[in-house]
Amino acid sequence: MNTLRIDSDRLGARIGELAQIGALEGGGVCRLALTEDDRKGRDLVCRWMQELGLEISVDRIGNVVGIRKGDEQGDPVMTGSHIDTVATGGAYDGNLGVLAGLEVVQTLNDTGISTKRPIAVAFFTNEEGARFAPDMMGSGVHQGALDLDEMLAVEGIDGKTVNDQLSAIGYAGDAAVGGFRAHSYVELHIEQGPVLEQEDLLIGAVTGVQGISWTEYTISGTSNHAGTTPMQFRHDPGYVAAQISVEARRLAAEIGKGQVATIGQINLNPNLINVIPRQAVITVDLRNIDEALLQQAEQKLQSYIDEIATAEGVQVESRTLARFEPVAFDPEMIELVEQTAQALGFSCRQMPSGAGHDAQMFAPNCPTSMIFIPSRGGISHNIREYTEPEQLAAGANLLLQVMLHRST
Ligand code: GLV
Ligand code: MN
Ligand code: MN
Repeated sequence: MNTLRIDSDRLGARIGELAQIGALEGGGVCRLALTEDDRKGRDLVCRWMQELGLEISVDRIGNVVGIRKGDEQGDPVMTGSHIDTVATGGAYDGNLGVLAGLEVVQTLNDTGISTKRPIAVAFFTNEEGARFAPDMMGSGVHQGALDLDEMLAVEGIDGKTVNDQLSAIGYAGDAAVGGFRAHSYVELHIEQGPVLEQEDLLIGAVTGVQGISWTEYTISGTSNHAGTTPMQFRHDPGYVAAQISVEARRLAAEIGKGQVATIGQINLNPNLINVIPRQAVITVDLRNIDEALLQQAEQKLQSYIDEIATAEGVQVESRTLARFEPVAFDPEMIELVEQTAQALGFSCRQMPSGAGHDAQMFAPNCPTSMIFIPSRGGISHNIREYTEPEQLAAGANLLLQVMLHRST
């Protein structure tokens, strides 16, 4: 193994500087996709890309790719992630993968190392899906899994469209989408779960990503007085929303085998103490690494919703917000991550990802894998998200070596 290493202080400084944009009290970050703060974050990362001599392109959905030329022309060895965050996000989710990519480039620049293949560092639009569904929107369009026009027309939680907001922040670029091929893709990300910390391991060689099913249910009933309406006369969307929430939890326990279920949003209208609501809108997030089990969860929940809606006399409309099948990464890339980690003296295990990632959009089109490093307390999508500087450096050094291996 060569002695080339990234600069941990420089990586930490960039993470800290980017986290100032949209900073929340307590160390967190709110940089929802295509907001003014997202623009400021993008501008900063683009400035860093320019300083490193990368050739920058921006495509129609706002993905930004910086390329460092290789000795030969051809498809680049690519890394990247996202710099948008959820509204209660941390400094590392996504941001680490992008800034570690810059660190790889700077380390090669500083030591005058050239690679046979080009190297690309990207950040993809709206990975989180917290403002605009689906998640992995930019990378999905980039790799041809999602339709550009459909995605541009998506309305966010504030009613604004992706298209309008891309123009508003000046990131509706002109690079072609859907035709970009990478030689291979590897993404560094925090685990966002407890496994590595609990097992006292430094690195996860990621084997794949579980399937994701997001559905929004709009439940319509009859609004009435909370005191005068006898219980048997009610058609209460709030009650049905609560029952769906309880059933989702029960179903996850019944199916077991890694099935998870989350009700992340419940909106009642009107939202008042003494009024039976007219409408409830809820979101259901179901995930499993096994597609058959995920389909079972979807079907069972739908049957339950049909039954409870009939019993309560309410109408339910559903809308699919995101649906991605489980993804398996490339065995050779997984092995490369694992063996390189061992060569660097890092403890490592193979593991699947519970969260969605841009890497999963590349997996059908080129050899792909990911590198995980620990998340303190397994906490993420939370302002308390934290990873030690030494762990960040280990992940970035592993990224550097894997990219070098693929590009020379
Ligand atoms: C997106 O990052 C998700 O896993 O929800
Ligand atoms: Mn992420
Ligand atoms: Mn996230």
